[in-house]
Amino acid sequence: MRGHLIELFTTHDATGNKFFQTFGECQIRDAFQLSLELVEADLACRMYGPEEPNFPFAAEKIGCIFQRAVVRCGVHGGIVPGGLAHVNAIGGKMLLTQAIRVRRLSIANRIVMPPMATHSAQDGHVTSDLCAYYRARAEAGTGLIITEHSYIHMSGRADPQQVSVADDVMLPGLGQLASSIHAAGTTKVFAQINHAGSQTKPDITGGELLSASAVPHPAVADAAMPRPLSETEIASIVSLFADAAVRVRTAGFDGVEIHAAHGYLLNQFYSPLTNRRTDAYGAGSLENRLRFLLEALAAVRAVVGDAYPVAVRLGGADYMEGGSTIDDSVAAARLLEDAGADLLDISGGMCRYTRRGHSEVGWFADMSTAIKQAVSIPVLLTGGVKTGEQAEELLQRGAADMIGVGRAMMHDAAWTLKALS
Ligand SMILES: Cc1cc2nc3c(=O)[nH]c(=O)nc-3n(C[C@H](O)[C@H](O)[C@H](O)COP(=O)(O)O)c2cc1C
Repeated sequence: MRGHLIELFTTHDATGNKFFQTFGECQIRDAFQLSLELVEADLACRMYGPEEPNFPFAAEKIGCIFQRAVVRCGVHGGIVPGGLAHVNAIGGKMLLTQAIRVRRLSIANRIVMPPMATHSAQDGHVTSDLCAYYRARAEAGTGLIITEHSYIHMSGRADPQQVSVADDVMLPGLGQLASSIHAAGTTKVFAQINHAGSQTKPDITGGELLSASAVPHPAVADAAMPRPLSETEIASIVSLFADAAVRVRTAGFDGVEIHAAHGYLLNQFYSPLTNRRTDAYGAGSLENRLRFLLEALAAVRAVVGDAYPVAVRLGGADYMEGGSTIDDSVAAARLLEDAGADLLDISGGMCRYTRRGHSEVGWFADMSTAIKQAVSIPVLLTGGVKTGEQAEELLQRGAADMIGVGRAMMHDAAWTLKALS
């Protein structure tokens, strides 16, 4: 019985649609009961318990539970002899090559080019060289490209050659970037939108540095003292995130990613190292520290619509004394999922995208694994992956649903082609 159902899980895509059509409501209810057993009742009951009137029809969500069930049995063992390897043998496919859904968007495989600043825009405008650079990574068959962090307002510009999403005048170039990637084949593309907060310089923004509190940035040598944002200013930056997301959608990107990692503004509010506020955005609780991000997410969702994928790059843990912790990241991930995030792109906070003393493949895997066990939306892990085998191994052990390959893909445009062949 269990083996049979697990076979069904692996032979249907993440939406669960085919399963639903083929087996109907009655069997879904049966399978749902089993999935409750498999994924541990707390998670499934919280999200899709029988008290939820539409649960038999929530095919996408049920699909997510099935997908998680497969991973769970790999992680915990004991349900299927041989764990995940056995499940894969039934499915007959590498995980890396399997399609995945983010919201309703189907992505052809689990390989992601994560955002990496190229410092090559001209006055914020996308150049044809930049389009060619991304197009080459798409031609290799990369499932998803998340383009480099782009500033939503001059006050949050991180670098003079950064791409801008701050003005409608950027739309033609942004449109060219999205269409260059789409022209290469099946690759989907999200744009990452960002406000640097205090992780920049006054001569780059043309004004004073802004942050959660008057604390010099812990990751910047000789950091200037920023000015804390007022609640009115926070509200206006929330609107700027929404305006930028509309531009991203209008330009033809398949989704948008809010940058809340690597010590930038939203991360400065999240990290206890930089947030000393005493108001509703303050250090008193995780909910307070996350409030700015949750408001930005809600504002983005309100303007892009229900169907449009919205990802969050979460700098979940600082890995520093007194900083944010993995426990914080798990709680934050749950809140972000509840608030409508479709993909959690896991990375570091004030430690940025590396981790002191760690050079192992997937150096944030302890965090991403804990988050993956707590949420039903896809989790993306990046850091140190150089080969397809390494990416597959991380997927096999349940560290994430998608794997980002940054510098290896930056240096080798054909990386994905080689990894998949
Ligand atoms: C040159 C460079 C630029 C980067 N720019 C960004 C960025 O714009 N946004 C972001 O979220 N991460 C950025 N990152 C972090 C990468 O997305 C990725 O997390 C990091 O390179 C670790 O992955 P890797 O070991 O596969 O390279 C950047 C990394 C590098 C090396």
